[in-house]
Amino acid sequence: MIEKIEELLVEVNGFNTTSKEEIENFRIKYNGKKGVLNDFYETLKEVPNDQKKDFGQKINTLKQAVNVKLEDLKNASSSSSIILEKEDLTKPAFPLDLGSRHPINLVKNRIIEIFKSIGFAVADGPEIEDDWHNFTALNLPEYHPARDMQDTFFIEQNPDILLRTHTSSVQIRYMEENEPPIRILSPGRVFRNEAISSRSHCIFHQIEGLYIDENVSFADLKQTIQFFTTELFGKSKIRMRPSFFPFTEPSAEIDVYWGLNSETDYRITKGTGWLEIMGCGMVDPAVLKNVNIDSEKYSGYAFGMGIERITMLLYQMSDIRMFFENDIRTLEQFKTL
Ligand code: PHE
Repeated sequence: MIEKIEELLVEVNGFNTTSKEEIENFRIKYNGKKGVLNDFYETLKEVPNDQKKDFGQKINTLKQAVNVKLEDLKNASSSSSIILEKEDLTKPAFPLDLGSRHPINLVKNRIIEIFKSIGFAVADGPEIEDDWHNFTALNLPEYHPARDMQDTFFIEQNPDILLRTHTSSVQIRYMEENEPPIRILSPGRVFRNEAISSRSHCIFHQIEGLYIDENVSFADLKQTIQFFTTELFGKSKIRMRPSFFPFTEPSAEIDVYWGLNSETDYRITKGTGWLEIMGCGMVDPAVLKNVNIDSEKYSGYAFGMGIERITMLLYQMSDIRMFFENDIRTLEQFKTL
């Protein structure tokens, strides 16, 4: 008798189906009124007393196995029938969302494209810099007051290792390793310890340009910038306001004439029609000397702009924090430029 139960146990454990009908037959066979289990309980009454315990235990084991199996089969068959009943398996799949480029990258790439078309190459450099490349070689000696405008995060001190405050450091590295003519753009992430307002951010992106050759003049600088503003904004009217940077002499801020055609134009230009877009100037001979370029023979210009600012102008965005919030609802609106 015990052997018979063990055989059935193997059968129960090995049974599998998703057919509702077969599951019901299985239930009737074991749990039905005239089923196997009831049969055994009947037989149990006639078993001699000293064997009752063993026999009873075996029947219970079988009963448990039957119930567990029934539970499992029912679960499996109901979830598969839900899929079959509710899903139309012939439907085409949902389209994959491919994502989009970040607006900062879109604008960066567009700026690079414009300057590439007139012979500029892209140069890269480290975000963690030493004092020489970020400050000293750029004619910003230690204790120079102009350093105050570019406080940053120091990783080590004496000698100072810091997060670069501009990508002019890349220009120094490039001039140290290459002979003129030099015509490069250095795009990248820069860092400043800014607490001017709650909107200011300690990280932003810059793109700087450098051109060194024989007979490079201020007129070349102006014409290059004018070409750039025409290509990017469709606006060719620019003006140069005198300014100061330690690494350029003379130095200027470039304003582009945006116009006063809409209420927004009035707001963003504060009623003047002019918008500041970048700093620039002729490379100071002291900088050329620091990188062993003969300033009697060569001259050059440099310029630098913040990509966030340009992007905000192009897309008429009002808050710089939108670039760093990573809100997909904002970012997915910028697919192309
Ligand atoms: N490096 C300057 C800055 O970060 C920008 C600049 C570059 C100005 C080149 C003039 C010439 O403010």
